[in-house]
Amino acid sequence: MMMAPPAKFWDRVAKRYSKQPIADEAAYQKKLQITRDYFRSDMELLEFGCGTGATAISHAPFVKHILAIDISSKMIEIAQGKADAENIDNVTFKQTTIDEFSAPDQTLDAVLGLSILHLLDNREAVIAKIHKMLKPGGIFVTSTVCMGDTMKYLRFIAPIGKLFGLIIKVFTTMELQDSLTDAGFAIDYQWQTGEGKVAFIVAKRPE
Ligand SMILES: C[S@@+](CC[C@H](N)C(=O)[O-])C[C@H]1O[C@@H](n2cnc3c(N)ncnc32)[C@H](O)[C@@H]1O
Repeated sequence: MMMAPPAKFWDRVAKRYSKQPIADEAAYQKKLQITRDYFRSDMELLEFGCGTGATAISHAPFVKHILAIDISSKMIEIAQGKADAENIDNVTFKQTTIDEFSAPDQTLDAVLGLSILHLLDNREAVIAKIHKMLKPGGIFVTSTVCMGDTMKYLRFIAPIGKLFGLIIKVFTTMELQDSLTDAGFAIDYQWQTGEGKVAFIVAKRPE
């Protein structure tokens, strides 16, 4: 089977990625806590682009179940190893893409997409799909590098920036908010982790 180029790239960097320290630990902890404030113990979650699983594993004790998916089988292998080592039994790691994945309409309580939306070439379609899968009142939590906020010149070169062999989509926080509200979400919480850095948004599917 031919592997999609992003899968190849992420397989190649997975081991290094898992050893990389978190760039801003305080910001990461704050995002975990804000997310957790929305959790209930009966919740069914999806995390897509879960990487090596650290976030899913840390949220596991606060919800019923997390399905954590990633395009890279190497990322999933590392994530599963960590979950096994920590005896976490309510996270299911699975190699698949957000495009291939589907859940019945209105069945998920929360979806997490962290450091992933800027890597997708069909962001709007993915956001619409998430909205459909969420129960009314369900939340989509995203933490996204919005390069359009600071690197405006890139927008004139091409709609995409090619960095480190990866296709990075360039858009502003405002454009991301618009994509979410156009899909029917209401912005429930928003935090900019540093000027022009990362937009952390909790978007709610209205009841
Ligand atoms: C920048 S990493 C972020 C990992 C993790 N969410 C974090 O915050 O550290 C992006 C992850 O998304 C995965 N990925 C990229 N495209 C994907 C897709 N279409 N569907 C699912 N996962 C994808 C990559 O394999 C990688 O693990």
